[in-house]
Amino acid sequence: MDIIGFGLEGKGAVVAGAGAVPGRAGHGPATCLRLAAAGATVACIDIDEGRAKEVVAAVQDSGGRAFPVVADLTRRDQVERAVEEAAAGLPSIDACVDIIGGARWDRAADFSVEDWDWTVLNNLTQVFFVFQTVGRRMIEQGTGGSLVALASVDGIAAAAMHAPYGAAKAGVISLVKTFSQEMGKYGIRANAVAPGAVGTGNEDWPEGTWSGDSVNPLAPPRTRDIANAALFLCSSLAERISGQTLVVDGGASTRELWGMNDDLLPQFRSGQYGQAQFGRVEG
Ligand SMILES: NC(=O)c1ccc[n+]([C@@H]2O[C@H](COP(=O)([O-])OP(=O)(O)OC[C@H]3O[C@@H](n4cnc5c(N)ncnc54)[C@H](O)[C@@H]3O)[C@@H](O)[C@H]2O)c1
Repeated sequence: MDIIGFGLEGKGAVVAGAGAVPGRAGHGPATCLRLAAAGATVACIDIDEGRAKEVVAAVQDSGGRAFPVVADLTRRDQVERAVEEAAAGLPSIDACVDIIGGARWDRAADFSVEDWDWTVLNNLTQVFFVFQTVGRRMIEQGTGGSLVALASVDGIAAAAMHAPYGAAKAGVISLVKTFSQEMGKYGIRANAVAPGAVGTGNEDWPEGTWSGDSVNPLAPPRTRDIANAALFLCSSLAERISGQTLVVDGGASTRELWGMNDDLLPQFRSGQYGQAQFGRVEG
């Protein structure tokens, strides 16, 4: 019997936004470690040199191969240079995961132009720059590849108090479909991972316990769940999957819309259902 692998041994991967910011989820390091554990050499690109070097050290400590690249990937010229540097240190660029993104918060009615522009640049435009530049290189290589970006469930459902973030992540979900269609003929796949509320990691959620609350039917996703999804989409296990967004949210976005729950069940069973459970704002 053959042991199932990920098809990434001896391959090269680029992770954009590879570093860790204290108090945040740490999707970059988790993804670098997973790709390296699957046998890829990882070019760890980050705007912050210290963070890039830190994640490289973590990969090397775990027995993997990685090297740092420092660049601001919201800048088109720096993306070009960073991908050149990554390519020079990798056997080939076979996978690319873009982690970069973040939200600013305000009411839709009050958002400033500056916050709108920052959010679209950091969550959507830079993904376009990275996919375009890495995609071109994959076309030149002629051996296909996998592009992955972190979207969010906020790009699928409403993004209350962070409207630009939801709109930008919806843009990422659209972008992977277009790259999928245009680059499929070169064997290049493009997909997104849409995390639910990972917050600062959720790694302390006790093993074997389930949430059962009104937000997470299963349990909140952890950083490693997002990294596993990114690894899967980069791997040969996903070689016929493209243009898709893989939601990793512990089931949160599958919740029934009308507030049905155990308490309401007897009422509905007896046919006494109605609008009573829904609030109303008097005009
Ligand atoms: N944590 C959650 O609950 C959650 C939920 C949904 C989606 N996400 C998505 O996860 C991603 C962020 O994950 P995180 O919080 O673990 O990462 P983070 O923001 O803590 O770290 C990302 C890394 O990217 C680097 N970076 C930032 N801007 C850069 C730039 N212009 N060029 C190069 N590097 C840059 C930072 O230095 C940092 O090391 C975002 O795309 C976010 O939208 C997170």
